Amino acid sequence: MRGVDFIQVPTTLLAHDSSVGGKVAVNHPLAKNTIGAFHQPKLVAYDTALLHTLPDREIAAGFAEVIKHGLIWDETFVSWLEANEEALQQLDHDLLQETLLRACSIKVSVVSEDEKEAGLRAILNLGHTFAHAFESLSGYKKINHGEAVAIGMVGAALLAEKMHIAENISARTRNILRTYRLPTSLEEDLSADEMIEVMRRDKKGEGGKLVFVLPTEMGKVKIVKDVDEKLVREVLHELKGGE
Ligand SMILES: NC(=O)c1ccc[n+]([C@@H]2O[C@H](COP(=O)([O-])OP(=O)(O)OC[C@H]3O[C@@H](n4cnc5c(N)ncnc54)[C@H](O)[C@@H]3O)[C@@H](O)[C@H]2O)c1
Ligand SMILES: [Zn+2]
Repeated sequence: MRGVDFIQVPTTLLAHDSSVGGKVAVNHPLAKNTIGAFHQPKLVAYDTALLHTLPDREIAAGFAEVIKHGLIWDETFVSWLEANEEALQQLDHDLLQETLLRACSIKVSVVSEDEKEAGLRAILNLGHTFAHAFESLSGYKKINHGEAVAIGMVGAALLAEKMHIAENISARTRNILRTYRLPTSLEEDLSADEMIEVMRRDKKGEGGKLVFVLPTEMGKVKIVKDVDEKLVREVLHELKGGE
């Protein structure tokens, strides 16, 4: 069915992200999102009424990618999400529409500048180098994508602080994720060696280097290539609850 026209009808909150941008891929045990293509949908039809039947855990997972769009692009969106957390978690219709529109618009801005991920588009991967390792090593089951991204974004904030790229960013990052009932530490007992190995295979990496999207301040990120493995190990240790 290569090249077939299609319409996206997202039925989860998380899918606000995947419905825009034209990435289609399969999950392979060796690495997530490495086997796939770029193929734009003809239309995205989003009916937020569908979201009311979603399990709470899936709602929370969806907010991880919503929050990500604020963290990479727009500090005022982060503040707005902080201010409206109660009504948003109750899926208030008007607020939710505005949220999805703002989050999708950020994605559209990024993707329209860089459809095939030559540069800018990679910022959408905030938290994802970590997340893909967590998901892949836990077999895509125990931990869902949004949860993995949430923990990964805390990891990115901690890493940025250690590298003096950002200051005082992990506390606020953790807080907003907790407010939206997302995990901010790694409960699964995954091996650091294996996580590093998966991260070295990440599609952003060239020649097995550790590449991360890291915050520089709230609402801004940059791509950092060849991060010191020792610092990544320290962050993994902290994410597992060892300070
Ligand atoms: N390509 C991209 O840009 C991109 C971005 C973000 C996420 N993703 C990928 O998307 C995948 C997860 O997406 P997801 O969480 O949207 O999908 P999902 O299909 O895994 O849905 C989550 C769960 O909710 C159920 N469900 C879905 N809609 C429902 C509804 N309206 N009411 C009740 N239950 C419902 C599903 O049956 C499933 O159990 C991950 O693999 C992730 O990597 C891709
Ligand atoms: Zn994602």
